Amino acid sequence: MTNPQKAIAALRNLAGTKRSNQNHDVYIPVKRDVAKNDFKLTKAMFWKLWEYHSQECYEINSDNEKVVKTIFRYFLKQEDFNQYGLIKSVPSLEKGLLIYGNYGIGKSLLFEILHKIGKELVTKRNDASLWFNCISSGSFIDDYMRASRDKESTFSLKHYYSGKLYIDDLGFEKKAFNKTEVFAEVLFERNKNKAITYVTTNHKPSEITERYGERIGDRLPEMFNIIKWEGKSFRR
Ligand SMILES: Nc1ncnc2c1ncn2[C@@H]1O[C@H](COP(=O)(O)OP(=O)(O)O)[C@@H](O)[C@H]1O
Ligand SMILES: [Mg+2]
Repeated sequence: MTNPQKAIAALRNLAGTKRSNQNHDVYIPVKRDVAKNDFKLTKAMFWKLWEYHSQECYEINSDNEKVVKTIFRYFLKQEDFNQYGLIKSVPSLEKGLLIYGNYGIGKSLLFEILHKIGKELVTKRNDASLWFNCISSGSFIDDYMRASRDKESTFSLKHYYSGKLYIDDLGFEKKAFNKTEVFAEVLFERNKNKAITYVTTNHKPSEITERYGERIGDRLPEMFNIIKWEGKSFRR
């Protein structure tokens, strides 16, 4: 869904879950000019939203602290978000994020929580600064293949060529119909459109290049703030 108004309307309908209806004290009650939407997400608000949506179950420890804080600062649009010097490409708030590391270290969970925060800000504050669409590489290819066989399907790859998009587990997916690298196309088109993409993966940039080709590999540094996330798995 690329039209932001439609996306907001759809999200409003989705927002009626018990949990998100609970009042949690995050926003300072100031008179806002809704037409201008002068809402600005502050660091303090972000932390409260984080605590609420992570249900205080996301452990931040010495393994992940620098990465997690770099990502938070990026989403808070702090120019100095690379204070820890973790970004392997030229850091920029105009680019997306490519975060790679082993399984089980909390990459997907982190983005799941950020997505919930983004959804709350859209539905309650009409603020899309932290809003992004989410797809998981494996199920996306399943949807793509199903849609190719079904003439009635509304799925369109073009919907994913623009707007902010989070791709979870890039490189985990199979080729569509054993031949097509769908994400090579999606990433190429998104780069052309200067669309912001967030990727989590357990593949190194060199492996991504190997899989999707030089055409994508060459563009990774200009598309992404590239971050290596190291640490022990939380999975037992
Ligand atoms: N920071 C964390 N604190 C507590 N549990 C975590 C944390 N990160 C991950 N986990 C646990 O480990 C599991 C795997 O995390 P996940 O985000 O799927 O890892 P990744 O995407 O890096 O493979 C999650 O379901 C969660 O239960
Ligand atoms: Mg994952």
